[in-house]
Amino acid sequence: MTLKGALIGCGFFAHNHMQAWAELDGAQIIAVCDRDPVKAKAFAEAYGAKPFSDAATMLAEIEPDFTDIATTSPSHRPLVELAARHSRGAICQKPLAETLEDAEAMVAACATAGVPLLVHENFRWQAPIRAVIDHVRSGMIGKPHFLRLSFRHAFDIYDGQPYLAQTEDLALMDIGPHVFDMARALMGDVEQVYCQTQKLNRRVAAPDAFLAQLQHAGGGISSLECSFLSHYQPERFPQSLLVIEGNLGSIELLEGFRLRVHAGGTVSEFDVEPPVPVWGEKPWHLVQESVVAFQRHAIRALNGKEPGQPTGADNLKTFALTRAAIASAATGTAISLSHST
Ligand SMILES: NC(=O)c1ccc[n+]([C@@H]2O[C@H](COP(=O)([O-])OP(=O)(O)OC[C@H]3O[C@@H](n4cnc5c(N)ncnc54)[C@H](O)[C@@H]3O)[C@@H](O)[C@H]2O)c1
Repeated sequence: MTLKGALIGCGFFAHNHMQAWAELDGAQIIAVCDRDPVKAKAFAEAYGAKPFSDAATMLAEIEPDFTDIATTSPSHRPLVELAARHSRGAICQKPLAETLEDAEAMVAACATAGVPLLVHENFRWQAPIRAVIDHVRSGMIGKPHFLRLSFRHAFDIYDGQPYLAQTEDLALMDIGPHVFDMARALMGDVEQVYCQTQKLNRRVAAPDAFLAQLQHAGGGISSLECSFLSHYQPERFPQSLLVIEGNLGSIELLEGFRLRVHAGGTVSEFDVEPPVPVWGEKPWHLVQESVVAFQRHAIRALNGKEPGQPTGADNLKTFALTRAAIASAATGTAISLSHST
């Protein structure tokens, strides 16, 4: 069965959603909406769907199997609540919401309506990160006790996404959800966070770099290092680099999609570069292929064939951790999470 979908938000990143939906069997976007009718019309013409400029009108008319929300976070709560009333499944872009109260209300609205909520958290679906997760879960490095994850670049993200220059808590709210989700996927729930921020770029309103130290429930610790003004040649964006160590071995994810595994007294190196989608191009293929991988998974999850990765309920923990990191940076203190996240 082909799931009938409706997309809300015809902006910068939604092109990736639409290209990926078009390449996948099992789902078809039949309607698109943007509050800017010019953008909705352009998407409708480019991707073959019916355009709308009001989400409530579209969902009431289409009653889709799922709603794919690709707007920025101020609109996520009302749109997820709307989707919970009018569709049988909802997918929301990160960050889940602006406040923890909104995020909790969104998860509750979908749970009450019996509508599955997935969060478009595609970094854990990037081919190199999937390879690291698979190696860790195979047990070959034993129990992980240390993670260092680095997302540092100087790519001009403000060109395609000008609103970021004015985004409050910029690095933590934009890239924080991605790196906290990857850390939780690799190291488990988080009990405490200590975070420091830096504002490096004079063009932007809020801190564009952070260093977060996590204490995980199982005893492991993580150091997450992010910056939007770190110059390297060649430019590393959008790669995440990491090292994860366990009692039996270590894994390094190195620049250029090289995965190096130290285990059993030997070292092995693998190429974990993703393929370039037919509609994609390097170096964006890392992100583009991850959107295909996430949405392929979303079709299976919406059909009840596998648990969502991540669900709204799981991503609520990542979002609580993001807000705790912001509070830590503001107060200069470590913040304990009341429920493990
Ligand atoms: N997962 C990733 O790798 C990734 C990458 C980039 C952006 N994002 C996320 O995607 C989301 C969108 O980012 P973007 O850069 O594409 O933003 P954008 O501003 O380019 O696009 C958002 C679009 O949504 C529309 N919109 C807003 N509220 C609406 C409403 N109530 N009804 C209908 N349309 C509405 C806007 O008019 C705009 O066209 C953000 O949450 C961002 O954090 C994720």
